[in-house]
Amino acid sequence: MSDAVRLDDITKRFGTYTALERVTLGIDTGRFVSIVGPSGCGKSTLLNLVAGLAAPDEGEVRVFGETLRGINRRATYMFQQDALLPWKSVLDNIRLGLAFRGEDGTELAHQWVRRVGLDGFADHFPYQLSGGMRKRVAMAQTWIVNPDLILMDEPFGALDVHTRHRMESEILDLWAGTNKTVVFVTHDLEEAISMSDEVVVLSAGPASGIVGRYQVDLPRPRNLIDIKTEPRFQEVYRGIWADLRGEVLKSYAR
Ligand SMILES: Nc1ncnc2c1ncn2[C@@H]1O[C@H](COP(=O)(O)OP(=O)(O)OP(=O)(O)O)[C@@H](O)[C@H]1O
Ligand SMILES: [Mg+2]
Repeated sequence: MSDAVRLDDITKRFGTYTALERVTLGIDTGRFVSIVGPSGCGKSTLLNLVAGLAAPDEGEVRVFGETLRGINRRATYMFQQDALLPWKSVLDNIRLGLAFRGEDGTELAHQWVRRVGLDGFADHFPYQLSGGMRKRVAMAQTWIVNPDLILMDEPFGALDVHTRHRMESEILDLWAGTNKTVVFVTHDLEEAISMSDEVVVLSAGPASGIVGRYQVDLPRPRNLIDIKTEPRFQEVYRGIWADLRGEVLKSYAR
């Protein structure tokens, strides 16, 4: 397997503050990888580096083997706060990425409206939707452009637990069999394990680095409602939590 993303000895500073220090991480093509770590440890910063929204001070980011300069055109980014345009309809929000490319996309956008369960809402505006529905629009926006690499920063943090499980399942259904690479940031270790092939733990800041990488060998497709009660899940959880716990406590102490 080849690396979809490779961070090579990355250091990122903001003024005198070092957010990430000497981070090296390769993510294989087609994998679903989660990044976890205490608040402020540099998860979003890491994702921004992969997206090309920020450049490292030292080291380099490689995307499918090529050094990244400027915006990462192979990736789409699903932000924590959804980035829907309030003055555009559901349909027009969904086809935004295609419109930027100069394509019409109306037909395909209608397919995606259905695919994310928003039948009948194509002409609605974001203010007329529930939080979960807005996330569905954001999901369609992300997937319609058929990216090789999908970056998600705590996309479901603001949702109630049931809606969240549904959205997580839908993401896994969309991803299954596509060979797309997903980098998923969350502070929720249960979410990270239940979704991922691998969980990467970052240390508490400043100068965060990788504490450990953990393979999640739970079979797919996964039933996210029940997976947390499975003994193997709990075993994996305990293994990762043993390391993450220390970092969370350090971040409290600072
Ligand atoms: N543009 C910036 N300018 C200055 N400091 C920044 C900037 N972006 C991030 N930082 C700092 O870098 C550190 C890491 O921030 P980052 O947003 O990556 O953390 P995070 O792990 O995503 O946190 P959270 O879980 O709360 O979202 C923080 O201390 C933050 O204050
Ligand atoms: Mg963040």
